[in-house]
Amino acid sequence: MTTPVIAVDGTAASGKGTLARRLARELGYAYLDTGLLYRATGFMTLSLYPAREDITEELALEAVQAISPETMENPALRDEETTQRASKVAAMPLVRAALIEQQRNFAKNPPEGAGGAILDGRDIGTVICPNADHKIYVDADVEIRAARRVKELLERGDEAIHARVLQDMRERDARDSSRSVAPLVPADDAFIMDTTRMDANAAFAAALEFISKRNESKA
Ligand code: DC
Repeated sequence: MTTPVIAVDGTAASGKGTLARRLARELGYAYLDTGLLYRATGFMTLSLYPAREDITEELALEAVQAISPETMENPALRDEETTQRASKVAAMPLVRAALIEQQRNFAKNPPEGAGGAILDGRDIGTVICPNADHKIYVDADVEIRAARRVKELLERGDEAIHARVLQDMRERDARDSSRSVAPLVPADDAFIMDTTRMDANAAFAAALEFISKRNESKA
């Protein structure tokens, strides 16, 4: 028997991370934030090659290999500079290829004997786990997502200007959606959620209902 897998994909600050984490807690599944892998890669390029604006695929691949468990815990992974760099390295086919196995292994053998796995990202339902049991795609109006990100940054004690965050988010959306490998698109069989007018509780309830109904219809 294979362990159940839930794929949660979507745009930045759409609420997919909060949703995926909560579903994982509710269902007793292990959770992997795959964006952190791209953030860690971006962060390592900034640490290893601070003076270079033009990171090549080969250098980015070296950065993947230099990621340690400590890198994954570094709060700087959430910094704006790392965020923008993460989106650039995430468009590189060699970087994506180097990170596939780790993600598929997590889905196949979730750690600590968890009953299933939830992965969130951009290409989980389309590339990493195309046979996932449930696929959820989360999006929201870009203005609302920018406002959520500003709130998050201010709560962390960082500076945040709405117009700047909005512009960065638009750039990142465009890069994530237009890249040639694994672009951000909903899987054909994904449950699409627009969280523009939904709070975290409503999104959680809707996703849980979708999962339960599908499980019932499959049983
Ligand atoms: O979800 P996030 O904001 O932490 O993701 C950081 C960057 O990594 C974002 O620009 C998209 C990219 N990413 C990706 O290309 N594929 C994934 N599965 C997860 C994230």
